[in-house]
Amino acid sequence: MSAMQDADAERYPNLHPDAYDLAILHPQYRKMMGGNFYNFGLWSEASDTPEIASARLTQAAIDLDRETESARTVLDVGCGLGAGSAQIADVYCHAKVCGINYSPRQIARAETTYRKENLSFQCADAVALPFPDGSVDRVFCIEAAMHFQTRVDFLDEVWRTLRPGGQLYAADILCTKANDIIPAENVVPDGASYAAKCRSAGFEVLVLDTITDRTVGPFAAHLKRSGRGPIARFIKDMTQEYILVALRKEAKTNGG
Ligand SMILES: C[S@@+](CC[C@H](N)C(=O)[O-])C[C@H]1O[C@@H](n2cnc3c(N)ncnc32)[C@H](O)[C@@H]1O
Repeated sequence: MSAMQDADAERYPNLHPDAYDLAILHPQYRKMMGGNFYNFGLWSEASDTPEIASARLTQAAIDLDRETESARTVLDVGCGLGAGSAQIADVYCHAKVCGINYSPRQIARAETTYRKENLSFQCADAVALPFPDGSVDRVFCIEAAMHFQTRVDFLDEVWRTLRPGGQLYAADILCTKANDIIPAENVVPDGASYAAKCRSAGFEVLVLDTITDRTVGPFAAHLKRSGRGPIARFIKDMTQEYILVALRKEAKTNGG
């Protein structure tokens, strides 16, 4: 598996799977992020734990689907350590759910932690999904697409693998500046530009909700309370907007 092109690895060494593993598998980060999740979470009360908030964020993405029972093949792309994929597999109990990650170590950890009949994990890059054209009903992507090289290539790949009418549900971060974990190609100034990119990739935008105040805000406050002020500042500076989106595959038109 070639998770990153050489040129990408040179420009964004911190996005190499080995580098990502250093953070996501580090015990201190595990404590800070909440169990086997690795996202900012959707906070509702100050007494929430990061794990509760992360599960709530995943549930908010699942709740965008009004027809869970019709899905047969469901992907969770950028699946981290598998907690979200397991939560998705519990809801889509009649479907096959596959968690995808470009890191073999994270995949190995997810496979050991979560064993369910309808759940599997595969090591692959988000922009080269190992699924035939039109074979997938739903794709989840929780707080990962801002890293992919590129997000637009990911949208094209999801469009290819989804059946007509299939849907993508994503929690995503809009950044107005590139940094060593956000490629320059993924910089997007606002939700309207984000929606325009989704439409150009052949999707109807069903939902685009801004949830910045319930995600990065309270998560940064949690980090500050835990004595991690510098990381709190980094993620607040980096995040212009935090959004939850539901997209439906449409036929592509020549006009883009
Ligand atoms: C912020 S974490 C989110 C993990 C998980 N979705 C969750 O909510 O707990 C981003 C994940 O995306 C994965 N990732 C980053 N770039 C990727 C790529 N190009 N292809 C597949 N996975 C990727 C990372 O390894 C990491 O597991």
